[in-house]
Amino acid sequence: MIRLVALISGRGSNLQAVMDAINTRQLPAEVAAVISNNPTAAGLQHASQAGIAIQVVNHRDYPDRRHFDSALHRAIEPFAPDIVILAGFMRILGADFVNQYHGRLLNIHPSLLPAYRGLNTHARVIEAGETEHGVSVHFVTPELDGGPVIACTKIRVLPDDDPERLAARVLTQEHQLYPAVIGWFAAGRVRLHNQQVCLDGTPLQQPVELDFGESSCEKSRLY
Ligand code: GRF
Repeated sequence: MIRLVALISGRGSNLQAVMDAINTRQLPAEVAAVISNNPTAAGLQHASQAGIAIQVVNHRDYPDRRHFDSALHRAIEPFAPDIVILAGFMRILGADFVNQYHGRLLNIHPSLLPAYRGLNTHARVIEAGETEHGVSVHFVTPELDGGPVIACTKIRVLPDDDPERLAARVLTQEHQLYPAVIGWFAAGRVRLHNQQVCLDGTPLQQPVELDFGESSCEKSRLY
């Protein structure tokens, strides 16, 4: 059983997926706290209703990133997490903060990294005429969306996709991929070694590609 702290900024649907996986005993973890930079993040309410400790560290209360990052670190530490997950956390974290959680800070990003780092991935993917899109889970390093990728899930871009439709289909995959990868971490199967992802002791040459099926839910075998 691992202790997890989640950092969120908004609706928190990925956090909810993680909480659901825990509640249905597919993920041996405990959410020790949910911390947000945004006091009105909907995900805070959901966590609170589930009896999870919540905290706000509002970036607007700090003069710069360094002070914000320190405050965030001070908020996290009492919960002694084994892993910190970014779940729609919309602040860039500085190198000092990131390095304090080396090998135990994960992020989920809605693209097939290293392609389409940053924001508005779905619109950019459509604009570029891509036929394939997806979601990646990676270890966080100081480089934005640049850390070693653990796993991804791919979906097809359909001819009549608009950014909203595509985002919704990617999100369905996110909700399966993140709990699955956190489950690997909980089982001690995945770790970061010399900036390289190791799964079951073997360095990955490329991210593991998980296929949940675009409409099915045959995910249990993957935990
Ligand atoms: C997700 O698309 C995630 O990949 C990205 O931000 C979004 C957060 O959504 N990093 P939610 O708050 O988990 O619903």
